[in-house]
Amino acid sequence: NKSQYSINDPSSLWVVVNKGRILPSSYVPANLIAPKVVLSEGSGSKNMLLRQNASAAAEKLVAAAGSDGLKLMLVSGYRSFATQQSLKSGYVSSQGRAYADATSAQPGHSEHQTGLAADLGAVSRTCQLEACFGDTTEGKWLAANAYKHGFIIRYQKDKTSLTGYDYEPWHIRYVGVDLATQMNKTGQTLEQFFGLPAYADYPAQIYQLSQ
Ligand code: DAL
Ligand code: ZN
Repeated sequence: NKSQYSINDPSSLWVVVNKGRILPSSYVPANLIAPKVVLSEGSGSKNMLLRQNASAAAEKLVAAAGSDGLKLMLVSGYRSFATQQSLKSGYVSSQGRAYADATSAQPGHSEHQTGLAADLGAVSRTCQLEACFGDTTEGKWLAANAYKHGFIIRYQKDKTSLTGYDYEPWHIRYVGVDLATQMNKTGQTLEQFFGLPAYADYPAQIYQLSQ
């Protein structure tokens, strides 16, 4: 049932945020908490928060990896509009606009502002936030098992023209076990699943998400 949850409400489990769809700058999710997992920045950092349901699921995911002998940690969770703004402008200055746009969202366009997205990495920091994470044991495990705990790999290798972003084997998005399981079977992007347009770039008309 594709209309079980809103795709337009920022607080919805299934909200779709991409280059054509923007969150209100003031939007801050309710119930942000730090998952009880290894945190790359320590529990004092505000980048280590997730929405409660995503946090509980991340704890189970990381514990399941642990049972398989792999140590995962949270590298980045919730990011405010202002945090994304400074992150993005830093990338634009250091790497240039084209590279920055392929790897980092404009403020309001990041799933991290929903509190439902997490960047995971190996505790060893091997290939942290790099494409080669996908070739590590941890990255392969994540791709094979994330859906069991309700997460999808949002920016897949063969879908960059549809998602608008380079391959990000570390970026997982919580959508719940039912949808994640369905999407794991089909390999579709969120946009394909919901029949939404794909945006490789920022369009002239941007859809404003609202509660
Ligand atoms: N790196 C992802 C696309 C973000 O900035 O949200
Ligand atoms: Zn991310």
